[in-house]
Amino acid sequence: MHSSRKGSDVLVIGGGIIGLVTAWRAARRGLRTVLADPDPGGGAARVAAGMLAAVTELHYGEETLLGLNVASAARYPQFAAELAEASGGLDIGYRACGTLAVALDADDRLHLRELHALQRRCGLESQWLTGRECRRLEPMLAPGVRGGLRVDGDHQVDPRRLAAALLAACERAGVGVHRTAATRLLTGADRALGAVLEDGTELRADQVVLAAGSLSGRLEGVPPEVAVPVRPVKGQVLRLSVPPAYAPFLSRTVRAVVRGSHVYLVPRENGELVVGATSEELGWDTTVTAGGVYELLRDAHELVPGITELPLVETRAGLRPGSPDNAPLLGPTDLPGLHLATGHYRNGVLLTPLTGDVMAELLATGTVPEVARPFSPRRFSTTRQETYA
Ligand code: GLY
Repeated sequence: MHSSRKGSDVLVIGGGIIGLVTAWRAARRGLRTVLADPDPGGGAARVAAGMLAAVTELHYGEETLLGLNVASAARYPQFAAELAEASGGLDIGYRACGTLAVALDADDRLHLRELHALQRRCGLESQWLTGRECRRLEPMLAPGVRGGLRVDGDHQVDPRRLAAALLAACERAGVGVHRTAATRLLTGADRALGAVLEDGTELRADQVVLAAGSLSGRLEGVPPEVAVPVRPVKGQVLRLSVPPAYAPFLSRTVRAVVRGSHVYLVPRENGELVVGATSEELGWDTTVTAGGVYELLRDAHELVPGITELPLVETRAGLRPGSPDNAPLLGPTDLPGLHLATGHYRNGVLLTPLTGDVMAELLATGTVPEVARPFSPRRFSTTRQETYA
């Protein structure tokens, strides 16, 4: 076993977009930062569609989370510009295209009307459209569309490009990237001291951030009183390609709830059309199933019949890091020196800019910014309960 004797200021465990943004932002604050992941830039972001859907994915009882989501969405334009510069010119595909959520039958319409009322109560901007108005905006929509919500503030990025840019920015900022898994947390004198990697390397650091997505609850050596209640929630996603002759196929993200399941179509400027996503509680299974692909194509076809003409270029499944209240765990734990940045569930891409800023502020100053305080990991701790207001 060998060890980095001097140690770093910060060790980030996990190199998905949340771990990478944390490491990049910490390094920019002057902290000596290392990161461990066998496949940095991978994880759920390789599958995700990249919707920035703070308004269209609003749910009852999640108004506090809404505040975090809206704050992060507002940071995206500046974040994309800073990241382009820091990564040596990589573009993350931020596209201010807006979203149209549509209803296919009377039940869907009622559901959307209720969502619209909730959005208005929360002070959010969205506009009710008739079916005809929806089709005027997006002529490829099915003739049977009964109405919809136009949300001009819900945009998109390309999560694969986001991950690549974050990895480049980390390397350019001097983050030491170890392409090996961390297997065990090192503790001593009642605090976190670092981690042991799969190849036996010991990485020591003053502060450790566990940001391993759905795997965050699996790190050995985390004391039982530090709850990391994160579980994998499988999502299957398809990628179609829009030939130039068919463009523009869709000009914005189009989504609906069909028979109780969410389906969305996210058109990229390069012709990729991402169709997602299933939501399945099946543990660590990442099999792409005939049933999953069938349901996505069936529902997407009801919305936009023309998709059956398009080449199907990729099918994939990923694991969202689900938490008990669907909100992330951001901040210090009951073990001094150990922080969490995980549990982002359906909002990892959306919450990337804000997570980076929150974690960097915590690592640099010891203070959690106000906006993130309701998301303390201690709300699930077995020794102390904090109010999740
Ligand atoms: N936010 C989209 C999804 O998780 O499927």
